[in-house]
Parts: sequence; C-alpha cells; structure tokens
Amino acid sequence: MNVKTIMVIGAGQMGSGIAQVCAMANYKVYLHDLKEEFVQKGMESISRQLARQVEKGKMAADERKAVLERLHPSTDIQNAADADLVIEAVIENMDVKTQVFKMLDEMAPEHAILASNTSSLPITEIAAVTNRPERVIGMHFMNPVPVMKLVEIIRGLQTSDGVYQLIEEVTKQVGKVPVEVNDFPGFISNRILMPMINEAIFALYEGVAEPEAIDEIMKLGMNHPMGPLTLADFIGLDTCLYIMETLQEGFGDDKYRPCPLLRKYVKAGWLGKKSGKGFYTYN
Ligand code: CAA
Repeated sequence: MNVKTIMVIGAGQMGSGIAQVCAMANYKVYLHDLKEEFVQKGMESISRQLARQVEKGKMAADERKAVLERLHPSTDIQNAADADLVIEAVIENMDVKTQVFKMLDEMAPEHAILASNTSSLPITEIAAVTNRPERVIGMHFMNPVPVMKLVEIIRGLQTSDGVYQLIEEVTKQVGKVPVEVNDFPGFISNRILMPMINEAIFALYEGVAEPEAIDEIMKLGMNHPMGPLTLADFIGLDTCLYIMETLQEGFGDDKYRPCPLLRKYVKAGWLGKKSGKGFYTYN
C-alpha cells in the first residue's frame, strides 16, 4: 500500500503543524475541522509559517505556493473516503476521540490507517471502538511540529507489523525521526516529561525558588532549551494537568499526583501562553 492522501482531523496548533509538514513532503492533505473558521485559522497559520520560511530564504516562493495548493480545507468528514491515512489531532478527551474514530471507521476506505496524535491516551482503547484495530496506531508529534524532529509511534495491542512499518516510512518522509514505543499511559515522552514539570510546580508551590530561578537552573544546568515552567505554559497547563491525571489514573501511583498549584491555575483559567497567563504573563 502507498500513502498518497492524508487527512488531518483538527486544525488547531498540532493539527495545522502536522498538515503543514505532510504537505511539505508532497502528500495531498485535507485539513479538517468542525467549523470553517477553525480551518481558516489553521490555514492562515500555515501560510504565515511558510511565508516566514520564504523571508528567511529557506523556501522558494513557488515552493510555498505548491505546498499551499496541496492543502485542502475541509469541513466535510466524507473527505475521509479519499484518505489513505487519517491523523486525528482533536482535543485530549477520550469520549471525543472515540466518537471521531467511530465516524472515521465508517467513512475511510478499508485500506486506510487511522492514527491518533494523542499525547497520553491508550491507543488500544481507541482502536477497540473501530472494526480495524490492526490499522490503528499512535503518531505523537511534538510541539512546535515544524521544528521538532521526533514522532513517538505507539503500537496498540493489535496494531499490525505492516501498519507500523508503513507509518515509520511516512514519518521519515515528513522529515521526522520515528521512535517505537508500546501502549502504556503517557507512552515514554510524557511519562518522563510531565512528572518533571509537575515536580518543578511542586518546587514553586513549596517556595523553594521563584519561577525564573527554577527555569534558569534547568536551562543553564541541564541544557534544556526551555525551563519546565516556561515549557508548561507553552504546552498549556490544562494539557499538563490532563496528562498527569491520565498517568495517576493509569498507574494508580501517588508519584503522579498533580500539584495543587497546577489545579488551582487551571481552575482560574490560567492556562499558560494561550490564555495570556500561566506561570508567566504574555501579551
Ligand atoms: N512554529 C514553527 N517554528 C517555530 C516555532 C513555532 N511555534 N517556534 C520557533 N520556531 C522556529 C523558528 O522560526 C526558528 O527557525 P529557524 O531556525 O528556521 O530560524 C527555530 O524554530 C528556532 O526558534 P527561535 O530561535 O525563535 O527560538 P529557540 O531557539 O528558543 O527555539 C523552540 C524555540 C524550538 C520552541 C525551543 O525553545 C524548544 O525546543 N523548546 C522546547 C520544545 C519542547 O520541548 N517541545 C515538546 C513539548 S511536549 C509535546 O509537544 C508533547 C506533549 O504531548 C505535551
């Protein structure tokens, strides 16, 4: 089987980044969301990203045009009938994801692979609501998608070897490095990253140091590109909390207990960069 057409479900930050890198790798791409305005916002963000590449001399103007021509805005889920691969990047909520996968299972052709960009939810459970669990897999891209090299590929319990290999190939085609993991809560990336972020929040909560100091220590001392609190703001504090809850529920272990300060910020609507306020303030 050959993947030619990819449909990305969800035109938010992750979905539009995924659509962008797929279109840059010569795939025909549908960028799908529920409302026209969401899709337009995603398309505009891609267009801006590509324009910046042209300004920097990293992309020719006609290449940008060709990439944009390979991108097709969609609000009609029936477009899934044209897809060889669907990559779901909707909100991190099991009910929403399973609804989307049930719908895709009906609409997409039999040969199509259904992938989820979930950052911590079980692929095996998502696959179980479809009639093609062997063709369901996790493709966990990192934010910002155009910059980050990794795609964590999660094998569900029933994912076939052939599907895994094909997804590994597509990942390489889009210029990323695939790394294989099995299906356990938080996979590898967030099982390790989120407890570190949560611990940084505990350190702040307990008054060990100011946010700037915590971040500076991890940046200069460990060579991290961003300190953990800046990174939490960048990811979204609601997402961080949701992932910690998924880890705590999945493993039943107190070491994954979300810091009360994280809960408090999320309750206040302090969600990080996207809401203008988290551990830092943004304009
Ligand atoms: N979208 C696209 N490109 C971006 C970008 C964005 N949001 N932000 C920065 N870039 C590009 C810049 O244009 C620049 O490109 P060029 O080299 O072509 O000029 C390049 O990235 C470097 O940017 P800057 O010089 O402005 O800034 P920087 O060197 O500080 O890098 C960063 C920015 C890449 C975001 C870096 O700070 C970083 O790597 N941070 C950590 C990111 C990270 O850990 N991501 C994973 C989050 S966890 C996750 O995604 C999974 C999950 O499930 C929660």
